[in-house]
Amino acid sequence: MVRAIHKRRRMLFVGSVCAIIASCIMYRNFRESWPLTVEKFLCEVKYALLAGKEILYDWINAKMNKNDCSLQSGRIAIITGGSRGIGFEVVQMLLELDMEVIIACRTPSAGEKAILKIRESGVNTGRAKVYKLDNASLESVRQFAGEIKKDYKQIHILINNAGVMFCPYQETEDGFEQQWAVNYLSHFLLTALLLPLLKAGGTPEKSARIVNVTSCAQMLGKMNFIDINHKNKFISGYAYAQSKLAQEIFTKGLQNLLNEKEYRVQVYSVHPGLVYTELFIHSYVWRYKLLFQPFFKTPKQGAISIVYAAANENVENSGGIYISNCRPSPVHPDALNLSIQTKLFDLSLQQVQLNDFFQHV
Ligand SMILES: NC(=O)c1ccc[n+]([C@@H]2O[C@H](COP(=O)([O-])OP(=O)(O)OC[C@H]3O[C@@H](n4cnc5c(N)ncnc54)[C@H](OP(=O)(O)O)[C@@H]3O)[C@@H](O)[C@H]2O)c1
Repeated sequence: MVRAIHKRRRMLFVGSVCAIIASCIMYRNFRESWPLTVEKFLCEVKYALLAGKEILYDWINAKMNKNDCSLQSGRIAIITGGSRGIGFEVVQMLLELDMEVIIACRTPSAGEKAILKIRESGVNTGRAKVYKLDNASLESVRQFAGEIKKDYKQIHILINNAGVMFCPYQETEDGFEQQWAVNYLSHFLLTALLLPLLKAGGTPEKSARIVNVTSCAQMLGKMNFIDINHKNKFISGYAYAQSKLAQEIFTKGLQNLLNEKEYRVQVYSVHPGLVYTELFIHSYVWRYKLLFQPFFKTPKQGAISIVYAAANENVENSGGIYISNCRPSPVHPDALNLSIQTKLFDLSLQQVQLNDFFQHV
């Protein structure tokens, strides 16, 4: 009896090892080395485990998330990537709160279509405008910020939401890996350039808010300061995780600096949950929609935590927190490390060619 159990266990173990080897062979791109294939495969396994945990967490908590914000008439919000996905739902919710919403997107006609769709759904409150912004170009960020400064004297909310995930290696016109540039670096520059308007928008009664849409993927991130593009050994999942960790470190570091300067500006980071959107277009999740979609949040459910960070009174003056399912949640330990915060700030300033983050204020 005991021998039979041992035999079964051994067969299970051998079977599992064979399955892993078979998966690696199927998964392998024959132009890359074996060690890289194994590392990529392990990265996928880590993501699968993280996703399983987060889906369970979302499933338990998502139904309790409430978008119970008071009306925000007179407040002006900017959102990057607001024409589709989670961003689109955020725009709709902010308009329902009677805000003026600026959709910053790379295809203005898509932004206009999004507004039309929201209006056709019966939302008549608030005002919406579209500006062109390509987060893959630092010049586009500078131009966008210039136009906003011409048209507005103050801004109350900046939502850094545009993002891409698991893309193949590609450098932007500025020479940065695209996930790094789109998800993090462009938003770092945008925040620095719009800080004077955010500072003007904050009052003792109500601070201005910056919301960085990060991800639970930050937990798999590690800052590779030697090779920030990950060019020497590119694993897209780790490059995405690094960009999301950078947003988290930026959130904590910036809040510390704003507190020192006593600006009425609060910075939050938000994980929207696992939401079935085109973000997954480079992932097997996108290919097996019927299998995966039922386990994911809808874009509307994903938008709730972002709007909560942008407008809810419960989090007034608690900048620096990471919000998931409308609750403060633990972050990657590197986000709390002051020397890593400083190192990231210095590198980012150099990459966007600013001497000082506050030079425009
Ligand atoms: N979905 C999830 O499960 C999940 C989980 C954690 C975190 N997040 C984060 O949530 C945010 C929104 O993701 P999503 O799920 O809504 O993805 P999505 O449906 O793919 O939408 C991404 C948005 O980003 C915009 N964008 C991409 N590249 C851009 C660029 N170069 N310049 C300007 N805009 C650009 C897209 O605009 P175009 O229409 O022009 O492409 C689109 O509006 C991302 O930051 C993502 O990392 C999502």
